[in-house]
Order: sequence, then structure tokens, then C-alpha cells
Amino acid sequence: MEDKKYTGKQVDPNEITRQYLDSILLEQRILDSDLPDISTEIFGETFASPIMTPAFSHLKALGEGREAGIVEYARAAKQVNALNWIGMETDEDMEKVLAANPKTVRIIKIFADRDLIYSQMKFAEEHGAIAVGIDIDHPYGNDGKYDVVDGYEMRPVSQEELKDFVKAANVPFVVKGVLSVTDAVKAAVCGADAIVVSHHHGRLPSAVPPLLVLPQIVEALAGTDVRIFVDCHIDNGVDAFKALALGADAVSVGRAMMAPLVNEGVEGVVKKLTRMNEELTTVMGYTGCLRPEDAEPSMLWIPGQDF
Ligand SMILES: Cc1cc2nc3c(=O)[nH]c(=O)nc-3n(C[C@H](O)[C@H](O)[C@H](O)COP(=O)(O)O)c2cc1C
Repeated sequence: MEDKKYTGKQVDPNEITRQYLDSILLEQRILDSDLPDISTEIFGETFASPIMTPAFSHLKALGEGREAGIVEYARAAKQVNALNWIGMETDEDMEKVLAANPKTVRIIKIFADRDLIYSQMKFAEEHGAIAVGIDIDHPYGNDGKYDVVDGYEMRPVSQEELKDFVKAANVPFVVKGVLSVTDAVKAAVCGADAIVVSHHHGRLPSAVPPLLVLPQIVEALAGTDVRIFVDCHIDNGVDAFKALALGADAVSVGRAMMAPLVNEGVEGVVKKLTRMNEELTTVMGYTGCLRPEDAEPSMLWIPGQDF
């Protein structure tokens, strides 16, 4: 008979992240408010809002006669003027994404073969990518070994290596998968232009929700030029607002974009991003924010926290 107390069940970081987001409540500051301007500058370009697409991978054609999912959402991002992101893809597929939408950030896996990282960075730059980066949070599988993805072995990255990647980049360099002040400060010291605070939909068991650690990271990086992005369960414009209020410069919607993409392709993602921008605009109106940077922690009520 199974003893339910001793199953060794780990906390699901996705559930905890969702619960934490939902525990954050907003106060209203309606007097003197107006409809805000949510346009946002990222890497020298102006986008419609601080809501971006996710660094997804492995999305081939999602139906008969359709383009690959990664190309469809790149086109949607272009239509709504959102910064587009892409994860692990071959150069061949990357070329298609960049042809559809050059305002794309390419996140490269931490291949044990470091030469492959350098060559994928170079390829992205030569094909017009707006920025490049690596997801530092994917070195290990869940079997106590280095992970192997599509036949490629992964390896953790040292600060020395990170410095070299940043130095080699001719466009802004992003470190994705930061989930502590320790790594945020190391990334900044190594010269990263931006970080993504993320647990990569739960690579680390019992991972802390990104928004719980975000304020400490924002404080630690105050006075630097490092842009701070966030993902993990940013499913609607209100979630995006909560991240902005806690100090994020921009956010990526992730799996919440998947159903619209699968069901309706480009149009579905356009609708999803447009709706999120409408929700963000509305909630900024109600909280008295005229610009995304006006959002601040004192607008939030978080159980057990007193800002
Ligand atoms: C199908 C799929 C593929 C992904 N591929 C990558 C990838 O190649 N590189 C990466 O950094 N993150 C990748 N991610 C992680 C996302 O970028 C994001 O960090 C994660 O999904 C958390 O956001 P969410 O909770 O809103 O989904 C992938 C996620 C999904 C669902």
C-alpha cells in the first residue's frame, strides 16, 4: 500500500508560480488617470508594448499546408509589433524565422560543443537578429547527467565562458534562465545586456516563482544598464502588469500562446497578443500608470509582504 506522506513528490514550480501570480492583488489609483501609452523601447527599437513572444523551439507545421509554428508566431509578432524570441533551432529554420521577422532574439542552447554556440550566434547576427543569447538553465537532465537534446550534449557555463560569449557578440547579449541574485550579478559582471528571470517552465524542481525573486534581482542590478525580462506563466495582461510593477522591463507570454497558435496560427497569436495589450492598457489605466515604467510595487498587495 502506498503511504501518501512519503511519496517523495516534489512541488511543481508551474503550479506554485501560477498560485503566486494569483496571490498578488492590485489597488486602484483612478483619480488623475488616463489611458496609457504602453509602447516600449527594447534594444534600440520601439515596440507596441512590453509583451513579447516566448523563446520556443521544436514547433514544426501545426497543420496541413501551414508554415512551421515558429514562423507563424514570428509573423504574428511582426503584425502586432512585438519583440519576437526563438529557442533551439537549426540555422536553416532560424533563417526562415528571421526572414519572416528580423526583430527576433535568438536563444542558443549551452551546447557542450562551444564552437556551435559561436557559429549559431554569428549566423543569427549575419541574418539580422536583433539580439542573441543562451539559456543557462538547461545543462542537466532529470537523471543526474548532462542533458542531451536532439543528440546534442549540454554543459553548464562558467563566468569566463560567458564573458567570452558576450565579447564575441556584435548585438546585445541575453542571459536567459536567471533565478537568483547570485546569477543575476554574475551575468551583469560578465557584461550581459539583458537577463530573463525564468525557471524555464520548471527545469529546477521546487523552483522559486520568478516574480518572488524579481524584486531582489531588480535591487541588485539597480544602477546597471542590464534590462530585466521575465517569463513563466505570464498568461494575460494583468500578469504582465504585476511583473512590470515588480521591476521587469518586459515580459514573454509562453505556453498561454500555444493554444491560439495551434488552433488559429498567425491570427490566433495576433489575437492573443492584442488582447494582452488591451488588458495591460486597461489595468494601467485603473492603477494610474501613464507609462509602463510608472508601475511600481506599492500598487500591489501581496500576502505577507509590505512594500
Ligand atoms: C515547446 C517549448 C519549447 C521551448 N524551447 C525553448 C528553447 O529552445 N530555449 C529556451 O530558452 N526556452 C525554451 N522554452 C521555454 C520558454 O521559453 C519559457 O521559458 C517557458 O515556457 C516558461 O514560460 P511559460 O510558463 O509562460 O510557458 C520552451 C518552451 C516550450 C513550451
